[in-house]
Amino acid sequence: MSAQTQLRRKTVKDISQAKRGDPLVCLTAYDAQMAALLDPHCDILLVGDSLGMVVHGLPSTVGVTMEMMILHGKAVMRGTQQAFVVVDMPFGSYETNSDQAFLNAARIMQETGCQAVKIESGVYAAQQIEHMVARGIPVMGHVGLRPQAINVDGGFRAKGRTEEEWSRAIDEAVAADQAGAFAIVVEGVAPDLANEITESVRCPTIGIGASNGCDGQILVTNDLLGMTSWVPKFVKKNADLMTVIGDAAATYAEEVRARTFPGDAQTYKLRKAADS
Ligand code: KIV
Repeated sequence: MSAQTQLRRKTVKDISQAKRGDPLVCLTAYDAQMAALLDPHCDILLVGDSLGMVVHGLPSTVGVTMEMMILHGKAVMRGTQQAFVVVDMPFGSYETNSDQAFLNAARIMQETGCQAVKIESGVYAAQQIEHMVARGIPVMGHVGLRPQAINVDGGFRAKGRTEEEWSRAIDEAVAADQAGAFAIVVEGVAPDLANEITESVRCPTIGIGASNGCDGQILVTNDLLGMTSWVPKFVKKNADLMTVIGDAAATYAEEVRARTFPGDAQTYKLRKAADS
């Protein structure tokens, strides 16, 4: 591709200016091939720590490491040209203090080339966000259902069902916004709470299981594509790749066992002297 036809990669300004404009389209990506397919359609591609469960078969995101995020972040960067790429900071890489958060975020950005990081931002994390933003790292917050906190919550539970949870979600969002987050993921909350959060912050909100009152939407791509047997209520499956892949593998197995694959079309031929 020539320099003239090279696409411009979206910047943090494009994203933060989307408040109450056209909805931000966001999906997760974990590898170069899928990222290249999603890139033309998305404003943001998130290298989510959901990769621990989706790609590595872990029971939750708690076991995800910096090395895993960096490896997948590099792959997604290689596959994309125009989407704004955000890499999740894994559990244990930012909670201790601002220095720990900055050093790990800087390592993620330097080694992957991504444009921003995301942290699951309890109110305490405002300090970390402010520290990182002041030092050149764009930070996306994540409030409501925070998958890295499932061990204190007792599982993946929607938030905002009690007054205490409701006001905590708003406090988390306002704290992240005031600390300088350029966008906030709002996960697993009812429409009224998603609306109140969206109205309480200056930056765009990106919903997952949080109604269409948010400024954008994100889904785990494998859920959207129907690659998992369990699909959360808030996902609309736009494909059934589990069936497509299962059928393709079954056909392959049948043909290998029947010795009909590889056939003539998939077999190299000896070149005859007259051909050359
Ligand atoms: O890890 C992830 O994929 C996420 C999205 C679900 C928002 O945080």
